[in-house]
Amino acid sequence: MAEANLIKVDHASPPKSLTRLIEADADILSAQLQQLRARAFAPLEQKELRRFMAGEAAKLIGISDAYLRTLVLDGVIPEAEKNSAGRRLYTLEQVHAIRDHLGRNKRDYINRRVGDEHQQVIAVTNFKGGSGKTTTSAHLAQYFALRGYRVLAVDLDPQASLSALFGIQPEFDLGSNETIYGAIRYDDQQRLISRVIRKTYFSGLDIVPGNLELQEFEHETPRALTEGRRTADRMFFTRVAGALKGVEDDYDIVILDCPPSLGYLTLSALCAATSVLVTIHPQMLDVASMSQFLHMTAGLFDVVEKAGGNAGYDWFRYVLTRYEPNDSSQSQVAGLLRSLFGDRVLTNAMVKSAAISDAGITKQTLYEVGRENFHRQTYDRAMEALDAVNGEIEDLVKHSWGRK
Ligand SMILES: Nc1ncnc2c1ncn2[C@@H]1O[C@H](COP(=O)(O)OP(=O)(O)O)[C@@H](O)[C@H]1O
Ligand SMILES: [Mg+2]
Repeated sequence: MAEANLIKVDHASPPKSLTRLIEADADILSAQLQQLRARAFAPLEQKELRRFMAGEAAKLIGISDAYLRTLVLDGVIPEAEKNSAGRRLYTLEQVHAIRDHLGRNKRDYINRRVGDEHQQVIAVTNFKGGSGKTTTSAHLAQYFALRGYRVLAVDLDPQASLSALFGIQPEFDLGSNETIYGAIRYDDQQRLISRVIRKTYFSGLDIVPGNLELQEFEHETPRALTEGRRTADRMFFTRVAGALKGVEDDYDIVILDCPPSLGYLTLSALCAATSVLVTIHPQMLDVASMSQFLHMTAGLFDVVEKAGGNAGYDWFRYVLTRYEPNDSSQSQVAGLLRSLFGDRVLTNAMVKSAAISDAGITKQTLYEVGRENFHRQTYDRAMEALDAVNGEIEDLVKHSWGRK
């Protein structure tokens, strides 16, 4: 960072009180961040999704490249733009339009749920930070949106990494009561979830952001529990499900990115979930803490279930994250998990890849960054693993809808 970009700070006389010191540091930091941000993004500049090459577009629609070329799309979509090499580039809106067009004659092209297929609410969880929850949630949400499902991603983590990945800066872009907390709070400031939903630059993917405000839920819940007015809708475990009820018809898939703790937010998310995905980085220490997580969850869930909370589910899976198959201790742990949990561990693992972590540094996912930005092999290997993991989950979703 160039010196000139740094805010001047007087280090000679720090405040005497700890409160003032912390407050001053917070002010300095947010002023600095604001300044950096003003330089990085012009005001009002929105994140925008890249365009897709014909091969990518065809794959997203579920047809061959050759078939896409033969399709006569007169008037169905505006003429696809061409890049400097004369290759066609499709926007996600165009991909959706082509899929819908084909779906008019053949229902199989359409992924959106129909009839009595129920909304899938997938909680991505593990109380260990860094186990890949947010990375998994973001890629999964985008995978579904790219294929024409209507998706809502919910950031339940006060640290708001998912919101940040979607270009929402929790410190600057969110006023009070503009997070999921607004829809689950107990007091009279509670609002409809539709008021806190934001569109993203992925057509078909909306988000409810989070920020530190969510921490209030952990503080307010014990108070609400003792207040006496313990009607069902005031019980903490019904709060997330209750909020989601308001948009049940609007989305096919809801992805809940849980915080790295086993608090009321996580429990309420698990109660709202129709399916659970536990992310595990296969290291012995992480697995040891996971056994604690499972014990504690079971204990708490027992209480919730006895109080009338929802403990049913469609599917429950473990997914290996940041996996290095050549690391013998990791592959041992992976083998151990597979022998203990059988097919509850997804067959495909999310391998560790510089493509994922590099994209993350610029607040992007691998689906957003084009192949030209990486070594082809690195990109292809990561993309293959991502699509395989997410495809397995898509199959579980379709299965729960009774589709083939
Ligand atoms: N497959 C992967 N390969 C490389 N880095 C990864 C991968 N998955 C996650 N990461 C990195 O690991 C860190 C923690 O992941 P994150 O998804 O934020 O975990 P959590 O939400 O559980 O705290 C992030 O910096 C992320 O970029
Ligand atoms: Mg996270």
